[in-house]
Amino acid sequence: MRLDQFVANCTGLSRKEAKRAIGGGAVTVEGTACKTANRRISDDARVALNGTPLTLPGERYLMMNKPRGVVSATRDSDHPTALDLLPAELARDLHIAGRLDLDTTGLLLLTTDGQWSHRITSPRTDCPKTYRVNLGEGLTDAAEQALKAGVLLRNEDTRTRPAVVRRMDDRVIELTISEGRYHQVKRMLAAVGNHVVALHRVQVGDITLDPKLAPGEYRALTGQEIASVNSG
Ligand code: URA
Repeated sequence: MRLDQFVANCTGLSRKEAKRAIGGGAVTVEGTACKTANRRISDDARVALNGTPLTLPGERYLMMNKPRGVVSATRDSDHPTALDLLPAELARDLHIAGRLDLDTTGLLLLTTDGQWSHRITSPRTDCPKTYRVNLGEGLTDAAEQALKAGVLLRNEDTRTRPAVVRRMDDRVIELTISEGRYHQVKRMLAAVGNHVVALHRVQVGDITLDPKLAPGEYRALTGQEIASVNSG
């Protein structure tokens, strides 16, 4: 893989930060300073950052700012997938921890670690997910109370778990839910007589979408972000 990708994967630095470190002469390959960010190196190359040897972690954990029109799947015949946005060597064996609809943007987590993603997606672990929701109508007080208490979704017979609602603007709320039912946010808003105009995931558990990531960009998760899921 490319040297900047290698450094980013090992350290949690963004690709841009890794490039900067390489350009600044902080990275050595096989003991010699290398300022060429796109140099191809093997997975077992001896790379160091400021003298500290770097090793690729056994598992990979990434966050992506998912753009609209990209599918949260590993393969799709009609649309580009989130994995298509990654270099092939990084995409290998990754799966998505908690899908987003085609038109939903924001925090998408990708990993090779099945146990870790299970903690995010399993209904038992109660992992909260926060969405910024642009609404078609202003939210009435009754609708807010209903969302907070739990609503009945169409064709379902159990109420949603209590949600957290934060009013951000006249037609913008942040909604935190701890389930992942099919199209849940859109259906919750429909259940209270409103509708979703735009949906953007900002947080999963303690992991917040990095504001430095433009749509389509990604970075490795930091050790702390990875550990937050196991301890959450
Ligand atoms: N709820 C939805 O309706 N869509 C998403 O993409 C995520 C949550």
